[in-house]
Amino acid sequence: MQTISRRPRGGLQGRLRVPGDKSISHRALMFGALAIGETRITGLLEGEDVLRTAAAMRALGAEVVRGPADWRVAGRGIGGLCEPEDVLDMGNSGTAARLLAGVLASHDLFAVMTGDASLRRRPMRRVIEPLAACGARFTARAGGRLPMAIEGARDALPLSYRLPVASAQVKSAVLLAGLNAPGLTRVEEPHATRDHSENLLRHFGAEVTVEPAGAGRVITLMGQPELRAADVQVPGDPSSAAFPIVAALLVEGSELRIDTVGMNELRTGLFATLAEMGAELRVEDRRVEGGEPVADLLVRASSLRGVDVPAERVPSMIDEYPILAVAAAAARGTTRMRGLHELRVKESDRLAATAALLAANGVGVAIERDDLVVHGTGGRPPGGGLVATHMDHRLAMAGLVLGLACAEPVRVDDVSFIDTSFPGFAALMTGVGADFSGE
Ligand code: S3P
Repeated sequence: MQTISRRPRGGLQGRLRVPGDKSISHRALMFGALAIGETRITGLLEGEDVLRTAAAMRALGAEVVRGPADWRVAGRGIGGLCEPEDVLDMGNSGTAARLLAGVLASHDLFAVMTGDASLRRRPMRRVIEPLAACGARFTARAGGRLPMAIEGARDALPLSYRLPVASAQVKSAVLLAGLNAPGLTRVEEPHATRDHSENLLRHFGAEVTVEPAGAGRVITLMGQPELRAADVQVPGDPSSAAFPIVAALLVEGSELRIDTVGMNELRTGLFATLAEMGAELRVEDRRVEGGEPVADLLVRASSLRGVDVPAERVPSMIDEYPILAVAAAAARGTTRMRGLHELRVKESDRLAATAALLAANGVGVAIERDDLVVHGTGGRPPGGGLVATHMDHRLAMAGLVLGLACAEPVRVDDVSFIDTSFPGFAALMTGVGADFSGE
């Protein structure tokens, strides 16, 4: 069923909270399963992706229960996971698959992992290569694609690895393998990426050091720690907040307040970019909750101008380019987003699909090598097109937000994948005045 998004009669108004951070939610479940004792998680994202991780940790022997107020994980301890009886299906989630590959690499067990058609197209060689060096054996389809069989190492060796691409998933996979290897595991990243694994591992009692190294960092982890269960409070996901924020910026007369959004500085590149574009986006009541910086965001409709977004900013807003491109479509002048090659291997080829999303709705757009160039309309983009989402939740939400700003309605082919990261998105948005309808 297609969904039609139209320009609402009035502005978007109200106060809302977005679901829990996806990256932190996956990690909280995995680390809880590797700790001794009972971990309590509040604010866990109950999206499909994270539910796949919960199911996988159960299949590996941890007890994972949803209580009335929180989630509880009774862990097995480092090295204590047991062999799953069946294939682990990670659904649409690259984070779940790659992080779990790290966990399994240093467990003496056999497991097979698969995923949906989108995940089965995504490259796993980026984790297979470094993880194989600890002694694990991987057999995957051509091109390093899922399904993949993993024979974890009995006595894993610690890894020392320099990431060839800026990827928090690969960094985390190596660190997770290092948990069950003796001695120091070392990862060098050329550009700093989200550090939720490092922060949470410390929170669970591991010894982790982080040193700056040029534009990047060197991270070390002392292997075979005793992880102790810990309480985790998951903040609102800044990557999810991005959608109502851009919607409010583009719909005349809007004012939204979004409570308790994660403000980890390695995640907030979009907010910096929107500020440069002239967005009225106020950060209020900065505080630390559950070890992560959070704030309330107040956003008002603004007239935006095009900007040049440097490649160095990619890691801090890697998931935000589809929605930034929507903002750029309504801005005055041209926006150039540089260095987007990693977008080609996300839930879809997001570089091509984002360009197609705009082009189908009358916006001037070009891909120049790894750059996305959007010629802003300086007002309402034409709209009237059909957005193809390619099993990609962020394209579906970007398409719906675009429709709110366009002269003509925008149709989106399949919104079901939104549930992977932002369950309740359509209801939340219609609650503040958005106009979405099914056809
Ligand atoms: C994530 C890292 C990013 C991001 C993904 C979540 C994580 O992927 O796109 O949505 O939780 O570590 P890469 O590390 O592949 O860039």
